[in-house]
Amino acid sequence: MPEPGGPHVGIDFGTSNTAAVLRTADGRRLPLLFDGSPLLPSAVFAEADGRIAVGRDALHLARTAPERFEPAPKRCIDDGHLLLGDREFAVTDLIAAVLTRVLDEARRTLDGVTPPVTITHPAAWGPTRRETLVAAATRAGAPAVDLLPEPVAAARFLTRLHGASVGPDVAIVVYDFGAGTFDATVLVHRDGGFDVAAAEGLTDTGGRDVDAALLRHIAAVHAGRDPGAWARLEHPATPADRRARWTLLEDVRTAKEMLSRAPSTLIQVPLYDDEMLVTREQFEAVVAPIVERTVAATKSALWAAGPAAARPGTVFLVGGSSRIPLASTALHRAIAVAPTTLERPETVVAEGALVAVR
Ligand SMILES: Nc1ncnc2c1ncn2[C@@H]1O[C@H](COP(=O)(O)OP(=O)(O)OP(=O)(O)O)[C@@H](O)[C@H]1O
Ligand SMILES: [Mg+2]
Repeated sequence: MPEPGGPHVGIDFGTSNTAAVLRTADGRRLPLLFDGSPLLPSAVFAEADGRIAVGRDALHLARTAPERFEPAPKRCIDDGHLLLGDREFAVTDLIAAVLTRVLDEARRTLDGVTPPVTITHPAAWGPTRRETLVAAATRAGAPAVDLLPEPVAAARFLTRLHGASVGPDVAIVVYDFGAGTFDATVLVHRDGGFDVAAAEGLTDTGGRDVDAALLRHIAAVHAGRDPGAWARLEHPATPADRRARWTLLEDVRTAKEMLSRAPSTLIQVPLYDDEMLVTREQFEAVVAPIVERTVAATKSALWAAGPAAARPGTVFLVGGSSRIPLASTALHRAIAVAPTTLERPETVVAEGALVAVR
């Protein structure tokens, strides 16, 4: 638990992105910025001299040597070691490299002082995974490490924002639609804290799966027209084709994010010298089966929570993929409670890691 008044960092180590919020000695809360953004890509890249590049540097270096790159070390938490290029790395060291970048940024703001940290983790993680996280933070130089389940952090943030409106014995649903996973958690506000009443997770349902579905939609139009070109995009063998694939994947993700705000967008398809129009309606047809899985998981978490969750007080949307408008409308239709959305659903968990129970 953060010491009242002391500097402290809350860290949400996510599949795609890591977000961190610093509390300074005078009580201010500052989202840490990485190259100007509150999100640090959780990606790592093994450089030739053995150093580990992280964040946007890793994404940039990956274009030339994808075999030395891991976009999501959190997914490798059970693997022990990972081969990047011709060297094996302990997963703990890869995670430590990401956390080191966070602590470097915190130190810059705190005149060289390294603060204690609270790191969040999926509610379903057992002791072995949690120990790996603590070992990585210790290796990164954190003087003290606390852990907190992600949905509990989100719920704490919600009560700080909405205070009294979350009464005792009222159930809160945290709908966390991130990049790699989906988690629905039902929590009950009790004795000033939160009890997890039920949790349902989908390990194969996140923004990356939405990207893959949109890519299949593009393939359905283009692969038949020039199978050779599509094969080069799907299994690139030359540096130029690898770059083309990279550009396409980046464009697909950006287009998907834009479709949460705009009625349509264009996607550049490299090697075809073509632009493809995708409308919000087409995108919703592509993403609907994925959203339906998240809604079904939320309903089954509510069902598993039993009478405690008969009438949830608040449904709280967190994670970047919860920006997809269909997620909110489908959920509202299914459980008859208007979901609460926030301006920056990616940093809610890191913010919540800093909120004390009382
Ligand atoms: N406007 C948007 N519309 C749709 N998706 C978006 C939007 N903005 C961000 N995303 C998606 O949100 C995902 C990143 O969300 P977030 O940072 O919450 O994930 P994460 O915490 O890294 O993942 P996880 O919680 O699975 O570990 C990416 O897939 C990104 O493309
Ligand atoms: Mg997350």
